[in-house]
Amino acid sequence: MQVVVAGQGYVGLPLAVRAAEAGHRVVGYDVDTHRVQQLTAGQSYVEDVASSRLRAVLDSGASSATADTEALAGFDVALITVPTPLRDGVPDLAYVESCARTLGEHLRPGATMVLEPTTYPGATEELLLRILEKASGFKGGVDFLAGFSPERIARIAPGSKRWSFEGTPKLVSGIDAKSLDAVKGFHDGIFQTTVPVSEPKVAELLNLIG
Ligand SMILES: NC(=O)c1ccc[n+]([C@@H]2O[C@H](COP(=O)([O-])OP(=O)(O)OC[C@H]3O[C@@H](n4cnc5c(N)ncnc54)[C@H](O)[C@@H]3O)[C@@H](O)[C@H]2O)c1
Repeated sequence: MQVVVAGQGYVGLPLAVRAAEAGHRVVGYDVDTHRVQQLTAGQSYVEDVASSRLRAVLDSGASSATADTEALAGFDVALITVPTPLRDGVPDLAYVESCARTLGEHLRPGATMVLEPTTYPGATEELLLRILEKASGFKGGVDFLAGFSPERIARIAPGSKRWSFEGTPKLVSGIDAKSLDAVKGFHDGIFQTTVPVSEPKVAELLNLIG
């Protein structure tokens, strides 16, 4: 599948490299051109990803890094892994909103959109869908699929050595049954265990409490 991972940070880069190793064609998209230059030169700045692994997926053509939105066209799955910094205890979704607008402009019928950052319960269905629908002119659940699958705080909390990337159980959710199948199917190819839940709000809440 053609996969976009938007946000090449501590969450997005390991996901992009692992997806490329799993056989997908991956575009790692980031607005930070300095990071894109480092990635293109095969230099990882994330502890989870050795530069040798990054270079292997770049050299094979399975993965590329870019700040150019033209490269986003035609994706089957797009994962949003941009920051949601806490402000007064509430996640600031400004980066998610901006990224969703950009991806929405490149959305095509049948594609799957996945939100991964920490957010508030309801954000996938209330905020993400509204922005994607407005930017694309398509309807969520009818023309495209969507869900929420959070990065696990326990795994990458400073000092945590207990969980490997693939070994960390991954919560998966969708806005409807077809979306859940798509979100789960993609993550099943990357993680050893996925844990489906009934709706994005449940995954959003579980992510917040642990
Ligand atoms: N790092 C952690 O320990 C950790 C743990 C659990 C959850 N999370 C969650 O994961 C999310 C991402 O965290 P991170 O640590 O990977 O952040 P990060 O700052 O390491 O990386 C985020 C990347 O997104 C890029 N970006 C910002 N706006 C963008 C846009 N519109 N389009 C494309 N790229 C954009 C930034 O340039 C940056 O390279 C956060 O919401 C955080 O809550 C992080």
